[in-house]
Amino acid sequence: MKLISKESKTKFILKGFFEENKPKNKNILISLNSITEYVEKNEAFICLGSKKSYNLNILKDAINKIVKLNTRNFQIDAKTFVGNNINLENVVNKFIDIDEYINGENLYSAKTSKKPEKIYLELIVNDKEVISKANITLKIAHLVNEARRLQATPPNICNSEWLAKEIQTMFKDIKNPNLKVKVLNKKEIEKEKMGLFLSVNKGSAYEARLVVVEYNGNPKSKEKIALIGKGITFDSGGYNLKPSQHIQGMKYDMSGAAICAAAMKGIVELNGKVNVCAILPLTDNKISSKAQTPDSIWTSMSGKTVEVNNTDAEGRLILADAITYSIKKFNPTQIIDVATLTGAIIISLGTTFTGAWSTCDLAYERLLKAANKQDELIWRMPFHEDFLKNIKASNFADYKNTDLSGKGGSISAAMFLKEFTENKKYIHLDIAGTGGDGENPRGTMVKTLIQFALDSKE
Ligand code: BES
Ligand code: ZN
Ligand code: ZN
Repeated sequence: MKLISKESKTKFILKGFFEENKPKNKNILISLNSITEYVEKNEAFICLGSKKSYNLNILKDAINKIVKLNTRNFQIDAKTFVGNNINLENVVNKFIDIDEYINGENLYSAKTSKKPEKIYLELIVNDKEVISKANITLKIAHLVNEARRLQATPPNICNSEWLAKEIQTMFKDIKNPNLKVKVLNKKEIEKEKMGLFLSVNKGSAYEARLVVVEYNGNPKSKEKIALIGKGITFDSGGYNLKPSQHIQGMKYDMSGAAICAAAMKGIVELNGKVNVCAILPLTDNKISSKAQTPDSIWTSMSGKTVEVNNTDAEGRLILADAITYSIKKFNPTQIIDVATLTGAIIISLGTTFTGAWSTCDLAYERLLKAANKQDELIWRMPFHEDFLKNIKASNFADYKNTDLSGKGGSISAAMFLKEFTENKKYIHLDIAGTGGDGENPRGTMVKTLIQFALDSKE
């Protein structure tokens, strides 16, 4: 997507119109989303329906159609899409968002056929304020694609060691004295006594890695946000092996880590006046003679002990230790984890809403405001002690990692994690349904997390 301030007469121009003020052409199509092209005049028009019923969804449908159909090198006259309660900023943001999502560069591809020549949409905007905001939108859209590139990379390439390096590389060109990035190797993770994290790594051919990013953008503020991202580069289930229909797509189980890394980069690049750290535990969950078996009992970094009654509930194991690490090293005021944690959340909220838990109403409001602003869907889920009963019912350890009752599996997973948060303000985001849309990685919540951090009031 390119922003231009003036149209060039030699290129096709596309304008939106409402039924009430249709261009004076006899043979123009007046049905929602239909495009009429006047080739000899280098002009095209898309019908946006009636002025009264115009809304964000109609705008999004129109943009999707234009972006997918763009074989013409359209220049788009942004102001002609303004109407009802949709202003120029909304129009420009949505065009950027959708075009970058569909045509964005650097998405993973191993196709050997030659790529079709890239066609850039050009958007005509001549409002300075809107343009400067649009540049932020463009930056954030690129970061969503950075997360999506990592998500899409196949697991025979994207193992824990590769992913740690890749995330480190993402930050390497940023010269900001308030930014620190380090990667802990297996020995260093052992030194921190992260027994739960290490238990998942036992069956792996690759070493576990813990990526730690710290950014202090506001030394005067006491607020410190810790972003914790689940980084399972492939989830086979371990000895509780996943059946064929559920194992495919498990390369996406590192989405939380990719998303937190991209959000973190956005916060730094946009010079957020806020203190944020990202803790990203990376490993696969595989089987070998060394892999952990069900019934194993481990001591977590916090000292609490956990009986593993299902090796496929591995996300909460690595996250629990990452949460403890964040508390011990950074003493955050707000913990937020992002994880493809449970299949159960797909039963509850489909692939439409991210499940969101919050121990604090005010923090949830801030999150919802950020999500609304960035046009991402979240739905609040409950923390409740009932869902801790089976988790606490181990005869041999402080906890079991899994409630096998089959009731509210996303909530018991959230309750397990909350046990490690030491009463810090805590938000848990389960993106198992929204992180990837079938074949398509979505980079869900990158935009919302950046917005949440930038909205810091302290
Ligand atoms: N990575 C999965 C969750 C998942 C499922 C993500 C489907 C994306 C799509 C997670 O590690 C897992 O296996 N969870 C188990 C938990 C169960 C053992 C309590 C699940 O959801 O089946
Ligand atoms: Zn699993
Ligand atoms: Zn998993």
